[in-house]
Amino acid sequence: MHGLFAVSDDMSVRRLSIWFAAICCTLIAAGGCGDSPVLRGPVVGRNGMVVSGHPLASEIGVEILKRGGNAVDAAVAVGFALAVVYPEAGNIGGGGFMLIRKPDGSSFCVDFREVAPRASTSGMYIGREGESVDGPLGAGVPGTVDGFLTALREFGTTRLSDLIQPSIDLAFGGFVIDSSLASYLVEYGQTLSRYPSTKKIFFGGNEPKRAGELLVQEDLGYTLERIRDGGREGFYAGVTASRIVSTMDGSGLIDTTDLASYRSVIRPTLKGTYRGYEIVLPGLPSSGGICLLKAFQLLQPYNLHGEGYHSEKAVHLMAESMKRAFSMRAAWLGDPEFADIPVDRLLAPDEGVAGDFSMNEDVAVPSDSLAGYPGRFREGNETTHYSVIDRDGMAVAVTYTINDLFGSKVVVDGAGFFLNDEMDDFVTVPGSANMYGLVGGEENMVEPGKRPLSSMTPTILVKGGNPVLILGARGGSKIISAVFQTIVNLVDFGMAPAEAISGPRFHHQWKPDTLQFEKGALTPAVIAGLTARGHHLQEIATPIGKIEAIFIDPQSGWYIGVPDPREGGVPVGF
Ligand code: GLY
Repeated sequence: MHGLFAVSDDMSVRRLSIWFAAICCTLIAAGGCGDSPVLRGPVVGRNGMVVSGHPLASEIGVEILKRGGNAVDAAVAVGFALAVVYPEAGNIGGGGFMLIRKPDGSSFCVDFREVAPRASTSGMYIGREGESVDGPLGAGVPGTVDGFLTALREFGTTRLSDLIQPSIDLAFGGFVIDSSLASYLVEYGQTLSRYPSTKKIFFGGNEPKRAGELLVQEDLGYTLERIRDGGREGFYAGVTASRIVSTMDGSGLIDTTDLASYRSVIRPTLKGTYRGYEIVLPGLPSSGGICLLKAFQLLQPYNLHGEGYHSEKAVHLMAESMKRAFSMRAAWLGDPEFADIPVDRLLAPDEGVAGDFSMNEDVAVPSDSLAGYPGRFREGNETTHYSVIDRDGMAVAVTYTINDLFGSKVVVDGAGFFLNDEMDDFVTVPGSANMYGLVGGEENMVEPGKRPLSSMTPTILVKGGNPVLILGARGGSKIISAVFQTIVNLVDFGMAPAEAISGPRFHHQWKPDTLQFEKGALTPAVIAGLTARGHHLQEIATPIGKIEAIFIDPQSGWYIGVPDPREGGVPVGF
């Protein structure tokens, strides 16, 4: 074996040790992953791999692959499983993007982003600010179920009943709550307990359920059975639909027509290049692809490797490129069905249309001098991503979300799943920011039937016609930075997979004009140098994105599933 990742040669054994060492260092530097650190290393496989946020979901996906299902089949099965075992972010009440690259090189994006209900209006949150986050008014029309069924119909090979049954069994049979879910139930407990439909599932009396307890979700099991037996109609009509509508409870806006008319869309992918790699990404209404390509375009002229990993100059250039990409996001991006957004011109190297985004190699350009809108900062830590590859090399990257952890915090009574609070991804109150501190313009104002702009960035990196990396992240606006830096680490700094993911990260999203960094990311000398250049630095305790990735060794073809040590993702391969 001569492949970089083939475990039988000495070089690969050395590489594996480096990965584990890198992970250990990061865990120690970060003080562990939550309240219960679990050290999970990379997993190597030859025939298939799934990396998701929960071991049971990864196992279910791999079982589908072992039975001959393709990567889309497995992705659908994993998505339903996460809806059961990862209720804080896995979902059937939200939406997302499934990026698919087939072995023949063609690629597609299933956009199952939620849409604003028909009765929504641009000013609907003025004076009701908190309601875009908590409660039924924050919910967009869910897209996940239609997205999964569309992906399966167009790209899958396995019957829905075979893919969803393991999740039905888990919902009825229960699973053991882990420390991560338990701690989130405590953190969000006060808000969750406001809603009786939520409390009755996730609380025992007045206390959130604890780690080690069995979580049985019968209502969710029946909902999944209705989807198994009725397909689309099992969710968007009949019993499930009427339960969603009753959960609106006089304040939310989703009605039966909204549900009946929801459709996911298969869109072309967005493609760009960076130092000889092709990058396959979702286009609008995800901003992730456009922001990433803009940032890479601005970085391309510079020799980051020559400057040095996390050197003052390299960090300056990367932060400035992200700042400009996010300012473009705020000024220009939204649902392409509602405005003529000049993506080609925004991504042209001399993007006259978007103002002057030229880089300053020496000093930090103040955010206020770039185009945009005023904003404030709130942190987000949400969403979930999973990556899948099958034996034929079909690559699937899925990021889906209910937005905030536990979405709107409201479980659909009698149907057992959380509704999203995706309406907060719109510009809900002009001039103010959403939960991620992101600001935006008219293109992202609420309109009936419109999809809110997203930061979800499922990504596939291709070299020489073959996928070499499938990745994506959780973390709101920080998703884009996490994906960006993982690719830079790999491409510019030649890092091994786990090093590329575990390396501490930094983040700039234009507004606020702050360069945030994880503990250990920057040395005191680099911090001083960046401050002298005009950057406003802030060390933060929360992770900057959490990646779930699969690397494909170009020489051997082996698959390496790599979780992010920041939170216990789980690779399973064979
Ligand atoms: N809900 C987070 C995002 O789509 O960016």
